[in-house]
Amino acid sequence: MTRPPKLLVFDSGLGGLTVFAEIVKLRPSADYLYCADDAGFPYGSWKEPELVQRVMDLMERLIAEHAPDIVVIACNTASTIVLPHLRVHWPALPFVGTVPAIKPAAERTTSKMISVLGTQGTVARDYTQNLIAQFAAHCSVTLVGSKRLASLAESYMHGESVRDVDIAAEIAPCFKEEGGRRTDAVALACTHYPLLVDEFKRLAPWPVEWIDPAPAIARRADQLLVERFGADAPGGQPVSRSIIFTSGARPPAPLAATLARYGLALTAVAPTA
Ligand code: DGL
Repeated sequence: MTRPPKLLVFDSGLGGLTVFAEIVKLRPSADYLYCADDAGFPYGSWKEPELVQRVMDLMERLIAEHAPDIVVIACNTASTIVLPHLRVHWPALPFVGTVPAIKPAAERTTSKMISVLGTQGTVARDYTQNLIAQFAAHCSVTLVGSKRLASLAESYMHGESVRDVDIAAEIAPCFKEEGGRRTDAVALACTHYPLLVDEFKRLAPWPVEWIDPAPAIARRADQLLVERFGADAPGGQPVSRSIIFTSGARPPAPLAATLARYGLALTAVAPTA
């Protein structure tokens, strides 16, 4: 195929940009559409059936209108429930999901005490429990469902000030000490959280490894593209990188400046949801 591949990267908000940025590094010359379902944000508090329905409805429109070659669900809260539905409904379209990085955390820990920091939805999922049973049975696993971190990360991306005390309170439950051992690895199980990882490192009571799955997700997406389109040309140039917000809201100036740093231009202001 000679035309560049078209990717749809989807999240409830701006967290998926952490995944988008890694994919762009591997595959600069592709056509990107980033969709932020800001009208539905935050996903962490949605009930499962309603969230499945919402994401399926949005995908129906986005796929029909934009005909992507691959879809990246850059959201743990959605991926942990919606991926099987997407794959059944669009069997010919590859979907790459984002699920809690429990396996890498369990592989890298020395103390065998790990934490999974995600939304309340993600940590409550059977999917997460199954990953723990499969890959981290030898570890003591603390599940931390944060109510506020995704919103704090959104504020940060909007250029608003985020108080240290608020971030520190959300990450504090990840840090456990037991019988001379303490937590040494934390899986960032929400794509918004790597946006704040420098703050996490600064505010952590002791150093831990913060595990961001974005590079691995990007490698998987690129591998699927290589199978279909071949490898990206060395020195590949950007094709098109656009973003849509389902609310139809125009990003305020500070956010528009942040998006420009990701090479993203607003593509539509009409509400999609
Ligand atoms: N970025 C999303 C995730 O990875 C969720 C944020 C939210 O909408 O609550 O889980």
